[in-house]
Amino acid sequence: MTTPFVLTFRPGISVVDDPEQGAVLETPRSRLDLSHLSPSFLASLRQLSDGGATEAELTQMAMASGGFGELPKFHFFLTKFVRLGSICYSLYEADSSTERVASKRASSARVSSEPSPFAKLVPSARSVAFSPKSFAAVALDQGFRLSRFAYCRSDGGRMVLESPAAQATIELGDWRGGAIATALGQAQTGQALLEMIPMLKAETVQGFLSLLHSVGMVLAEDECESEAQRQWEFHDLLFHARSRQGRTQQVVGSTYRFREVEDSDSIAPLPVIRPQPQAWETVALPVPDLESLGDRPFTEVLESRRSIRTYNPEAPITLVQLGEFLYRSARMRQMFQMEKMNCSDRPYPGGGACYELELYIAVHNCEGLDQGLYHYCPEKHQLGRVRGWDGELEQLMSDASHATRKDESVPPQVLITVASRFARVAWKYESIAYALMLKNLGGLYQTMYLVATSMGLAPCALGAGNADLFAQLIGSEYYAETSIGEFTLGSAPADLADEPKLMMMEPVDWEA
Ligand SMILES: Cc1cc2nc3c(=O)[nH]c(=O)nc-3n(C[C@H](O)[C@H](O)[C@H](O)COP(=O)(O)O)c2cc1C
Repeated sequence: MTTPFVLTFRPGISVVDDPEQGAVLETPRSRLDLSHLSPSFLASLRQLSDGGATEAELTQMAMASGGFGELPKFHFFLTKFVRLGSICYSLYEADSSTERVASKRASSARVSSEPSPFAKLVPSARSVAFSPKSFAAVALDQGFRLSRFAYCRSDGGRMVLESPAAQATIELGDWRGGAIATALGQAQTGQALLEMIPMLKAETVQGFLSLLHSVGMVLAEDECESEAQRQWEFHDLLFHARSRQGRTQQVVGSTYRFREVEDSDSIAPLPVIRPQPQAWETVALPVPDLESLGDRPFTEVLESRRSIRTYNPEAPITLVQLGEFLYRSARMRQMFQMEKMNCSDRPYPGGGACYELELYIAVHNCEGLDQGLYHYCPEKHQLGRVRGWDGELEQLMSDASHATRKDESVPPQVLITVASRFARVAWKYESIAYALMLKNLGGLYQTMYLVATSMGLAPCALGAGNADLFAQLIGSEYYAETSIGEFTLGSAPADLADEPKLMMMEPVDWEA
């Protein structure tokens, strides 16, 4: 026997009475005219936004005035709502579901003493693959285990079970749902759960497992992840699912959520330019004359771009070259206002023109510039000296050498650490802020590669620096500003043929 789940519209969807249009289904994104529906059909839809009912109860309500003739239309509508992720499914315990019906019969108004569900499935995707038919009956001797993507967290005063591999969130009514999730860390049968956790009824366990299984929060003992799924790590899949549209009903895009709130909670946006503290000694950088660079043709630069991890120690990169490189890659060209936020224009593209990326230049061997860590000011085209050469900076350099599989005792001539002032983007964008920063980093990397190639320098992007160490090095709060990427730079070796494209690369005859 399948468990009778109680269906309701998800929060934010309701039937309202418009004085001109009549009954309307209001959703956060649209309004649907319902005025042509029969009174009993309309009553069943109203029920979905007012306490809910089981599918059988709703069907009865819809047929009350129109008879069987109403059924196909009602099921068409319901299936559509389910597919659009508009329907929630609540699991009530046997006694409380009787109470729930009794309390509804006693009063048509919603009462606060109404029992809360043991668990409630709330779709998190805009289009879902599960339907009431997926909530198949679960046998008590069937084994299940929690998906490695599922996790519990507190949200709005209640615990929720979520998973980037699921198209729904499960709201837990009390601690027993959490206890079941904990026990399902290892495969368990429903029967074992009943013995393990007191105060549970067999139908509740069956209904809960059916709910979890239908959305992929638990897997049957003999179920396996696909090959593609196996190669996803938990954090990567969560980041992907939550920063793209589709598997989330969260707002995605620019919402300025810290501007549009009550004064006491509002936060001012960070300035376009990160201020350089007065204590930092400044170094003015030479400005190149862009008209007289005599650049190589664009296609030639593009086609010869490559990563170079060795340098010419006899003729290291110079301050003039570093100045030209930074000016052409990352200076600020202009400042302007867009949607009440100060923005800027730079040579590389940046989402929303926020320009959160900050360049810190660790200098080991640059002619005309002392060793140490500097911050680049894109407005004044100057360096601010953050600190001199010390053990911690040496660690940063040695990590970079290690990443290029080089002798760690030979640091890159220059290491550019790209840090992000996270709030520059997070103040404006919701759901996608960090993803946007990584995309911006890609745009900056390619710009730096092309400028370095054009200048005959040795560039190489790096993938995994130490963000904790970097926050310590610049004395910042980890959550406010730290590294998200690195880039090594130096003078190119005299004979590039000695520098393999990648240290571990073995050529493959791909045309064979
Ligand atoms: C995001 C990113 C991260 C990278 N991380 C590293 C790294 O940690 N170590 C390294 O030696 N090269 C790194 N590289 C360079 C790549 O290995 C290189 O771009 C790739 O092998 C292609 O070679 P090419 O740049 O010479 O065309 C990285 C490149 C990018 C774009």
